[in-house]
Amino acid sequence: MSGALSMEFVKYTEQNHIGCLTVDRPKALNALNSQVLDELLKAIDDIAAGAARVLIVTGGGEKAFVAGADIGEMREMTPSQAEAFCRRGNAVMRGIETLAVPVIAAVNGYALGGGCELALCCDIRLASESAVFGFPEVTLGVLPGYGGLQRLARAVGLSRAGILAFTGERFKADRALEMGLVDRVCEQGALMEQAYQLAGKIAQNAPIAVRGIKKVLKDSIGLTLSEADCAEAEAFAGCFGTEDQLNAMGAFLKLNEPRPFTGR
Ligand code: COA
Repeated sequence: MSGALSMEFVKYTEQNHIGCLTVDRPKALNALNSQVLDELLKAIDDIAAGAARVLIVTGGGEKAFVAGADIGEMREMTPSQAEAFCRRGNAVMRGIETLAVPVIAAVNGYALGGGCELALCCDIRLASESAVFGFPEVTLGVLPGYGGLQRLARAVGLSRAGILAFTGERFKADRALEMGLVDRVCEQGALMEQAYQLAGKIAQNAPIAVRGIKKVLKDSIGLTLSEADCAEAEAFAGCFGTEDQLNAMGAFLKLNEPRPFTGR
């Protein structure tokens, strides 16, 4: 199964149920301007309607994942234009975060400002050794506007999030790993292979169960434990009676041959 979408700054490929979304504006280090955000929104809609069971998000070119929101475009914005730009970025981040399938950020270089925010809205973050992270907004007279502060605080704790956002300091992949901002640092050149390997492991599992896991994990933030238990019971129950559950358990019990998961 395959699919593809090619816009000026955003590319999407889908093969064997693995989607790969690339912010592809390397001349500006993949900076997010309004057009990139609009193209991402379009891609997110397509991905949600497509056959991907897992998504990889990365940056085009050799240097950057995403070097932030577009400073040239932001420089002249009025406050109301800035608010609309912020809302559009929020919609992109929420759109990625709320995709039913797991999303892996393959951080292949600079992930600054909006780039860090983009990585943070993914479920899993892998980084190459060359990745550089940071929230430099404060050095430009603004603050993160795409939900990055909230997600950063959840990922690394309030105090550390404060240090990073108040100082705007940049840091490398090893420090991002140490603070739990990324899950794995990969050798230069091996990042995409490792991202695809991980995506492949996820894609071969039962899609309804994988989506249930994502939902339960996401729901675990903001719900009480008993509310989260209810959400989990609902997701667990939703797997039963499906073709995949009956076949997989039947195969374990030697009632039928093992079959690839279908998502039904
Ligand atoms: N917005 C708009 N353009 C950007 C950009 C951004 N966030 N980040 C990089 N670019 C552009 C540069 O203006 C340059 O364009 P040009 O070739 O037309 O002059 C091009 O990308 C290459 O960047 P350059 O600065 O020459 O590369 P570098 O290797 O010397 O430095 C960075 C790389 C990432 C350190 C540097 O580009 C940078 O600090 N970018 C801004 C990061 C930032 O503050 N992001 C948060 C925004 S809120």
